[in-house]
Amino acid sequence: MEGFLGAAWLWVKAAHIIFVIFWMAGMFMLPRFFIYHQQTVPGSAEDKAWIERETRLRYIILTPTIGIVWLLGLVLAVNAGAFSQGWFHAKLAIVFAFSGYHGWMVGYAKKLARGERRLSEKTLRMANEIPGIVTALVVILAVVRPF
Ligand code: HEM
Repeated sequence: MEGFLGAAWLWVKAAHIIFVIFWMAGMFMLPRFFIYHQQTVPGSAEDKAWIERETRLRYIILTPTIGIVWLLGLVLAVNAGAFSQGWFHAKLAIVFAFSGYHGWMVGYAKKLARGERRLSEKTLRMANEIPGIVTALVVILAVVRPF
């Protein structure tokens, strides 16, 4: 399936998968950080250390990787003519929703940095399951392409 990317196609696809792994690793870490963070006393040195860790995770991993995954994914989609394929519509809907979830989690990190702690530990534990479910669904759609 070589489009305009020619011989570079498999390299671009490999890069796409590598950055997907980095993105997902960050998305697995962030709610887990929140759980530990919320166990600290507001304003304490430990609270400040978690704010620093969350900020670094956002700037070093989460923000760059979401951009790179989207960019490479869209390049692959144009290359393969995927916009007319059913599996890709479903994948796009899921990754779009997941990108919204990413934004919501980043928003929550900012709230925590301001001292607002609105979500319970149970909710954060449930949020921690979302990247795993999304990974399973998206990989099945991209690899098996059931429709
Ligand atoms: C963010 C937007 C994304 C877009 C636009 C996108 C688009 C694409 C496209 C078009 C392909 C097919 C490439 C080809 O065969 O030429 C592909 C492959 C793949 N994508 Fe994505 N993707 C995105 C995110 C993700 C995510 C979040 C995951 C995993 C959680 C993922 C996992 C994969 C895998 C495993 C393949 C390889 C499938 C195969 O060749 O067998 N992608 N992606």
